[in-house]
Amino acid sequence: MTGQHLTGGPGRLAAKGDLFTPIHKALRSMIYSLSGRLQTNDFADVTATRTLVTDLENDFAVARSAGCTLCLLAQHAVDEESVVFPSAARVENQLITELISEHHGLTRRELEIAKAGHELLAMDSAEARLRAGAQLNLAANLLFGAYITHMNREEVELVPLMREHFSDPEMGAMQGKIVGQMPPDRLFAILGWMLPALNVTELTGLMSTFKATAPPPVLKSVTDLGAARVDPARWDAVKLRVGL
Ligand SMILES: [Fe+2]
Repeated sequence: MTGQHLTGGPGRLAAKGDLFTPIHKALRSMIYSLSGRLQTNDFADVTATRTLVTDLENDFAVARSAGCTLCLLAQHAVDEESVVFPSAARVENQLITELISEHHGLTRRELEIAKAGHELLAMDSAEARLRAGAQLNLAANLLFGAYITHMNREEVELVPLMREHFSDPEMGAMQGKIVGQMPPDRLFAILGWMLPALNVTELTGLMSTFKATAPPPVLKSVTDLGAARVDPARWDAVKLRVGL
């Protein structure tokens, strides 16, 4: 990054890049889905509860586990802090310091919820599980509320800042780095949430990038995933626009 990039440079085209909103759409969909399952789960039913807690998962040492919602939420903060925040901190250090502090608060809540889920599963009485399930739902709602407020803040404050101080190729390079360091199972887990969460314009842009840059087997896997997950009418429109 150069000084010219920090100031935008004379005559530079306004950047349109957005490293946050698309992945945040995926994370919001995950949160909405999990929230819906949590508030309707029968915690007296051990089998159903075990499936739910397994999907929540508690092993942050293997945060790359593909099916684990809390892991994906936690790992997203790591991606931001390792790739995007070091550059952004050079232009707005106070905001980035506060966002990192919010990440730590979210991680604390995630760990508490994962632990509470496993403690609940170890309870013998259905009555105790029902009581603990109500508490788990309250704790998860606090996490989800804080997580959504945090993402809103990044979109309102950080996205315009990034556009002001970084070019689209620079933001594209950051995005490439995040995707490049992501294990394939986590990438596809995120895409499984992201593809159906995007509108037709965003999907067209994303799939055009895959078509232009991804090896044919990867493009096929992503296309198959889109066909399976995205609303059929929206996916047909994307295929037509992209030429898939
Ligand atoms: Fe964040």
